[in-house]
Amino acid sequence: MSLARARSILSVDQWEDREAVMEVIKQTRGMVMDCALPTTKTPYKATGKILANLFYEPSTRTSSSFHAAMLKIGGHVIPINDVNYSSVSKGENLEDTIRTMGSYADVIVLRHPDVGAAQRAAKASYVPIINGGDGVGEHPSQAMLDLYTIYKEFDLRIDGLTVTMLGDLKHGRTVHSLSKLLRHFDVKINFVSPKSFAMPDEFVQPGDGVYTDLDEVIETTNVLYVTRVQWERIADGRPTSPDAVYKYRVTPEHMAKAPNKFRVLHPFPCVDEIDRSIDSDKRAAYFRQMRNGLYVRMALLESVF
Ligand code: NCD
Repeated sequence: MSLARARSILSVDQWEDREAVMEVIKQTRGMVMDCALPTTKTPYKATGKILANLFYEPSTRTSSSFHAAMLKIGGHVIPINDVNYSSVSKGENLEDTIRTMGSYADVIVLRHPDVGAAQRAAKASYVPIINGGDGVGEHPSQAMLDLYTIYKEFDLRIDGLTVTMLGDLKHGRTVHSLSKLLRHFDVKINFVSPKSFAMPDEFVQPGDGVYTDLDEVIETTNVLYVTRVQWERIADGRPTSPDAVYKYRVTPEHMAKAPNKFRVLHPFPCVDEIDRSIDSDKRAAYFRQMRNGLYVRMALLESVF
């Protein structure tokens, strides 16, 4: 395996055990402390390096936070946030685009609609690839920031919690990656979705709870991880009966039933799936979660150099 490929971040599988995960969390905590200082004291390995942000799908948080993270650790960014303005629109294949960007940049963050695109890119690449989301596949940096958020919100502890994932678990790559990362900890996992949006079998393990109604588990849930319906991944568009989906909305009534130790997370964008009066509830952690993305991505970028 090439050195570039070895340093790539393609799937959460590469954090093989709890120690590997905790190491990233430790690096992230270091970045949080660095950001609190008036001047940067740490000599980052990324200083002077260039990140190419290559996005074949829309993004606000992933692209901006990787961009900001690279600037914070002393690097520079080539932003290609809309490949339609690149030679991709002229028919250039992924491998050629990757080799091109690797001629100018030291690391590439790739978001692509096809599962496995990051692996394909890493095979062709001279420089490390970070998977910024590959279709319904994985989103490892998001899962790491989700995990870090849980760790931070629950006083530096993950063991013993009950995590309930709600919404479109079939097409949501964030829940695929997060469910795998959580397996390194002693957590109870519940999946709540309409049957047609159920978590694929490969991510479900004996002992997990599988439900179609949030009311069945809200009283025992500590982390409610909410996802939107990934309409763009559903070939025939919106279902004829939207009720099937919109009953998966988190309401103030759910918040009232939740236990004391409770947080709501969401990778965003949030469309209809949370009653927005919940935003002002201290237990809504999704804006803090967004901010954590900056620190986690600083740590991940630094780790590839
Ligand atoms: C997620 C994604 O792109 O998978 N967003 C993100 O990266 N924060 C979730 C989504 O789009 O619903």
